[in-house]
Amino acid sequence: MDRIRIRGGKGLQGEVTIGGAKNAALPLLAATLLTREPCRLENLPDVQDVQTFCHLLGRFGVRIEQAEGRVAAVEAADLTGQQASYDLVRTMRASVLVLGPLLARSGRAVVSLPGGCAIGARPINLHLEGLRALGVSVSLRQGYVYATANGLRGADIFLDPMTVTGTENLMMAASLARGKTRIHNAAREPEVVQLADVLNSMGARVSGAGTDAIEVEGKKELGPFQERIIPDRIEAATYLVAGAITGGDVTLRGVCPAHLSAVTERLRAAGTKVSEGEDFLRVQGKRPICPMELRTAPYPGFPTDVQAQMMALMVLAEGTSVITETVFENRFLHAAELRRMGADISIQGNVAVVRGVSKLCGAEVMATDLRASACLVLAGLAAREETTINRVYHLDRGYERMEKKLSALGAEIERLR
Ligand code: EPZ
Repeated sequence: MDRIRIRGGKGLQGEVTIGGAKNAALPLLAATLLTREPCRLENLPDVQDVQTFCHLLGRFGVRIEQAEGRVAAVEAADLTGQQASYDLVRTMRASVLVLGPLLARSGRAVVSLPGGCAIGARPINLHLEGLRALGVSVSLRQGYVYATANGLRGADIFLDPMTVTGTENLMMAASLARGKTRIHNAAREPEVVQLADVLNSMGARVSGAGTDAIEVEGKKELGPFQERIIPDRIEAATYLVAGAITGGDVTLRGVCPAHLSAVTERLRAAGTKVSEGEDFLRVQGKRPICPMELRTAPYPGFPTDVQAQMMALMVLAEGTSVITETVFENRFLHAAELRRMGADISIQGNVAVVRGVSKLCGAEVMATDLRASACLVLAGLAAREETTINRVYHLDRGYERMEKKLSALGAEIERLR
């Protein structure tokens, strides 16, 4: 397994280009199943989860040609009666996004239940209840979902708690259902909005995306789409924190500042200087770092996917911070690794109390999940001496060549095969 070695203590300087959003690319790849026509996706991020999803689609007979420049032509003309098997789904729970489109298109889907995850139970009960409301019969056997439908019909669906992929799955199923579907308490993420735009360009009638009430007027058939994936707001947030924590001066290109307002607000509260333009953000790290109260929430609140990164920054604040994780029940696995680098963090349930320390010391640490890995990289960039991060396959799921982008910003970082 690859490892990453960092010699920290230097302020990052320069420009970094942000790639396409992993969490927008996955539902859009799933949406190609809704039509026989060839679709085209641009600005695809070159990350493991996208490759895994393309592999999964291939199992269903979908033809994918990945041209250079992060473009993919995807054609789901003739679907095989395959299944989304456990070996794939357990490595990427977003595989469940094929459920809605497959049922809408072919009336049949066999998908492994995702099983457990490091950051929480992450059930898919809301996906399944929503599909049942649309007329799908669902049974669970030996860890698999067996779902069939003889045509879908519109329904009123209420999602509690808010679920991003649950909203996306049900929007896609509803787009080929007879009649109108209303999704109440829908997720409002920008990735949900892009999926709605794509479904509308395919001929569906989706309104309300970006609010918590989405309406879908289903169609008998949908046409192709061509779409450029929106920038990855979580990758962007990660590089903003990298500039802040190293006291550097970093400009991010190809971002959508409006998608990051909760993050830039908290960074300014930490004393970081953040300036923004049409498609760029500039971060200048300042000392002292101010402590804060931080509470994650569904979009447009502070994203849970940036909680670990902000914890790394708060570890070096001048004072005590309180971080409350409201979305997942076990998303503090990075705290134990940060403690090994000298952090002072105590966890009570879903609240982490972070007492700022003056410095972090390099250590050998273990990545446990995608965003925890990013947090450890950030801590390594700020720590003196050397940090080695094991199990960086977690990082590769959602970040494109992170060590290359960071070394271009002046970091002393290398990947050990
Ligand atoms: C999406 O996951 C993202 N993944 C996650 O990003 C992100 O952390 C999460 O949304 C929250 O923003 C993708 O978009 C591919 P949820 P998702 O369903 O949709 C509970 C990353 O780092 N829930 O919004 O799986 C669930 O347990 C990943 O890129 C149910 O109870 O998350 C959680 O507590 C990590 N029943 C809460 O809802 C359900 O049927 C939010 O989960 C579904 C969800």
